Amino acid sequence: MIYIAPSILAADYANLGNDVRKVPNADLIHVDIMDGHFVPNLSFGPDVTKAVDGVTDQFLDMHLMIEDPERWFPTYVQAGGDRMIFHVEATRDHVAAGRQCRELGVQSGFAVKPGTPIEPYLDSVGEFDQVMVMSVEPGFGGQKFMPEVLGKVMALRDHIKAEGLDTIIGIDGGIANATIAQAAEAGVDAFVAGSAVFGADNPAEAVERLRELAQEARGGAN
Ligand code: DX5
Ligand code: ZN
Repeated sequence: MIYIAPSILAADYANLGNDVRKVPNADLIHVDIMDGHFVPNLSFGPDVTKAVDGVTDQFLDMHLMIEDPERWFPTYVQAGGDRMIFHVEATRDHVAAGRQCRELGVQSGFAVKPGTPIEPYLDSVGEFDQVMVMSVEPGFGGQKFMPEVLGKVMALRDHIKAEGLDTIIGIDGGIANATIAQAAEAGVDAFVAGSAVFGADNPAEAVERLRELAQEARGGAN
């Protein structure tokens, strides 16, 4: 299945509720949390997450670009997050962190920065609902897609297939009409898109177009 995940990092913060309502056809909403330490930028926190949760029934993916993610899981679960995607670079024991998310009653995912290899983590993929490959350096929207990370997507796809796992593969950064097909061909299931959706005149149409392009690239699969 293909999931299109608009990132509200690219939304109009003065009209956030309005912008979220512009993408009722999105499969989930991607919420980028930045702490100014793990990444050189600040975004928003639990209160804004709660406000977003209050205007939609859509599934909320929490992309936690923060240090000590374990400390914050309960807060973001409370705020309405449905899946905690933390960075392996920010934790000493990613498997324990993932289990902690599931114990809190939400889904778990881990993300890897562009320079982080995937091999050391392959054996643990079955413990997670999603693995997300960053295709830009985390911290800012609107950056250029890095095709060189697709090798990691293919390694994940092969591993997931060989082991019969149901973990989904996500990609985040620089996804747009011009880049989504190559990511879909490599095996991505969940596509985060910030500027390509909220920078468009019609965000819902942008979501549909991305979905069509991903489906075509996957040979018509949903
Ligand atoms: C970057 C964020 C992304 C960002 C993507 O650190 O994790 O989710 O919003 O934005 P675009 O789609 O504009 O690259
Ligand atoms: Zn993100």
